[in-house]
Amino acid sequence: MRKKIVAGNWKMNKSLQEGIELAKEVNNRVKALAPSQTLIILGTPFIHLSEVNKIADSVAISAQNCATEVSGAYTGEVSAAMIASTGCQYVILGHSERRSYYGETDEILQKKVMRALENNLDIIFCVGEVLADREAGKHFDIVKSQLENGLFNLSAEQFTHIIIAYEPVWAIGTGKTATSAQAEEMHQFIRATIASRYGEKTADDTSILYGGSCNAKNADELFSQPNVDGGLIGGASLKADDFLAIINARQKH
Ligand code: PGA
Repeated sequence: MRKKIVAGNWKMNKSLQEGIELAKEVNNRVKALAPSQTLIILGTPFIHLSEVNKIADSVAISAQNCATEVSGAYTGEVSAAMIASTGCQYVILGHSERRSYYGETDEILQKKVMRALENNLDIIFCVGEVLADREAGKHFDIVKSQLENGLFNLSAEQFTHIIIAYEPVWAIGTGKTATSAQAEEMHQFIRATIASRYGEKTADDTSILYGGSCNAKNADELFSQPNVDGGLIGGASLKADDFLAIINARQKH
């Protein structure tokens, strides 16, 4: 069965002290919701992982990136093994900011996915088109090729460790959300694409999150869609009140 998930992506925000405060508040408020049917994940910067893991007993922790290489002379890089050694269980890969600002290609992402799997990390793998692609009617082709080239080399067993996040690039941090119909249409397409490679059961068991200006106001409508299993939340994950409102919206459906 696929999971309902609300994942925060803090991006490059919060000092260590601020991050610990936010994580404590979210963790305690999520604990008060028990039993929660929603998996809550906090995607923190690397330096927060270990400290946040110590206080997190009601939320899981995710990194936002990992190195392509196993270990060695790669100054400034953080390996998947190092991430796992903090107690972290997830890693976000293929975010559009990594793809566009840091030149992460499908080939690079394939390597990162392998490193993550070798270290028993589950992966929140992001896909999504830019505005020009959508306007040209190419959004389905783009997302299909991101899935095929980034992930479809995996075995069926390996693919069970994948969560997909559909994040239309034009909706990220812009305040311009995809409509629930646009999200549902793409999520259905993603599920069908997964089914054609791995079969109906795997596709049905895969959680597909929506990301891109998801907030307390629009979360309810987005999560009411049958193929929208949750959200990957950027800006609105930085304040406990906003993030909790989104979690509550997920709990309702
Ligand atoms: P946003 O970011 O919610 O601030 O639009 C989402 C994301 O990039 O994961």
